[in-house]
Amino acid sequence: MQIPCFIANWKMYKTIAESADYLHSFEKELQPLPQDAWEAILAPPYTALATVSQILKQVPLPIRLAAQNLYFEEQGAYTGEISPRMLRELCQYVIIGHSERRGLFGETDREINKKIRAAAKEGLIPILCVGETAEERREGKTWRVIERQLSEALDLGNLSEVLIAYEPVWAIGTGMTPHPSEAEAVHFQICNYLSQGEKSARILYGGSANDKNIEGFMKEPHINGVLAGGASLSPEVFAKIIKLGSAAKISR
Ligand code: 13P
Repeated sequence: MQIPCFIANWKMYKTIAESADYLHSFEKELQPLPQDAWEAILAPPYTALATVSQILKQVPLPIRLAAQNLYFEEQGAYTGEISPRMLRELCQYVIIGHSERRGLFGETDREINKKIRAAAKEGLIPILCVGETAEERREGKTWRVIERQLSEALDLGNLSEVLIAYEPVWAIGTGMTPHPSEAEAVHFQICNYLSQGEKSARILYGGSANDKNIEGFMKEPHINGVLAGGASLSPEVFAKIIKLGSAAKISR
């Protein structure tokens, strides 16, 4: 069985000091858990990466670090951007193609592909986000959209490891979620799609995931974890998600 993975996407929340406080409480909450049944990945804002990375070096728990984005060039005159090489010193993972980047910042599938390649070249593991809008869902286009996002993003030579996050855009920050069986059906299709290209990946669900609905999602066979936004901002709630989610996976 793949070890379930729980990712906290803090988005544009938390200062350096707030991030350090979070880590202290989070560590305490996670100490009593069996340490081989889960992996957590924190994705703080760029400004807190160095501090969180330093703190995690002192913490003997399976917690890794992700950036929320990157730029695909190695270096150069790109004011305000951060390269994979810079991130490599701080984290192991990077979120790519989040729907907020696609929707608010106009990121295209082609740019996402370049970012995936640039991350992999530098040894960062990409967490690729895919998902349909409410309108695409209504029109019955869910799989067509996701297949396009996957094929364009993953159009590359060799990618040794990737995580996929299925995040229906209509579920993000809304309190609405698909039924776990509906999410499972999409995860199953993603899994099949990847296996045709002789790839496999942990496939995580994202969109209003919380400590109340985590067990339902984690009981599904192809849901290997979650990518949480709002519910990950509290160390107590996110630790509860990990605790209940990993236990639900084991008891399946
Ligand atoms: P919410 O959990 O706040 O819906 O956000 C999900 C998300 O976008 C994680 O990347």
